[in-house]
Amino acid sequence: MNRATINSINRRLLENLRNNTTDMAASETRIAASEFYCPDILAAERQHLFINTPQPVAFSGELPGPGSYLALQMLDIPVLLTRDERGQLRAFINACSHRGARVASGSGQARSLVCPFHGWAYALDGALRGRPEDGCFSTPVDDCALTPLAVSEKYGVVVVALTVDGTQHAVDSALDEIGEHLEGIGFQHYRALERRHFDVAANWKLVSDLSLESYHFKTLHRDSVARILAANAVVDTFGRHSLWAFPFKSIAQLGERDEDSWPDTVQGSCTFTLYPGVMFVVNSLGAQMIRAEPGAGPGESRVTFVGVSGPGCDVEQARQAWDFGGEVFEREDLPIAEDCQRGLVAGRRDQLLGRNEPLLHFWHQLWRAALS
Ligand code: FES
Ligand SMILES: [Fe+2]
Repeated sequence: MNRATINSINRRLLENLRNNTTDMAASETRIAASEFYCPDILAAERQHLFINTPQPVAFSGELPGPGSYLALQMLDIPVLLTRDERGQLRAFINACSHRGARVASGSGQARSLVCPFHGWAYALDGALRGRPEDGCFSTPVDDCALTPLAVSEKYGVVVVALTVDGTQHAVDSALDEIGEHLEGIGFQHYRALERRHFDVAANWKLVSDLSLESYHFKTLHRDSVARILAANAVVDTFGRHSLWAFPFKSIAQLGERDEDSWPDTVQGSCTFTLYPGVMFVVNSLGAQMIRAEPGAGPGESRVTFVGVSGPGCDVEQARQAWDFGGEVFEREDLPIAEDCQRGLVAGRRDQLLGRNEPLLHFWHQLWRAALS
């Protein structure tokens, strides 16, 4: 984001705060309850929105230099990200060419990755380096490299294909429509803090919806984030991606100052949602990624919550901010998503999305369109 865009967002936030309003959709809309419990819809979503769609999965800073690796589980697909000796990012199916075991777990730095089952060793470019009792195998070592996946790294965000059919073009172009806005954030300079997972008894879309509207701030978060943040949001969409910002209450002070003297950051929280629905939340000390994925059934999801600290920011303060955000998310947001899941299954009534929840309209439309 450049200075003009930041000023424009701050101006719109200030205006919405003054007028006690928020960016709106044209009219109310409804979402069928079955969207959240139908196994056929979930199966189609897994295929079209996850397996066939490039996935933003990590910050570049989680693989900080040559020899870094990060093992991920996406749906039930084991994925391995590495940075080879030359610093090039690579992605593989995390499955040994001997009999399929994961060759690495967690994250770290290594010169080679050794499969824990029988000890086959791989370089970080995926080549098989050695195998115990080599004479027992006739398949050449060169034919035993890890299976590569298409991967790209732009604007500090790692995007990977979850299937060997994924093309390089698809991952390279996945963020094009929002690229210039991500560019100015400079995620490539952010440093990794931690990755956490939550298993949630709610559909993945109910979890994603939590990070797409601020209508709930004054009630659900009245004793936490609503103390410092106002619900008067601005929203923008860029192709299949979106930006949602809501202000610090203190933004009111900007109204008395000339725009030339305004700060060069958005005075509030900015959430970039990258297709197919991964949140990158930026605050003044760092950022967090929230990824909700389908679990085994329509009423289950797995949520990944990653924290990074911003360049030049105090790491300890950034961690405290991330911990606070995680605590609110776990204690206040996730239980209400589980509650909605039970209510939708039991009552089978449509959800009503108000005009004041415009990004829910946008994202549910995109998710539905992907299945048709
Ligand atoms: S499965 Fe990896 S060494 Fe046997
Ligand atoms: Fe919330």
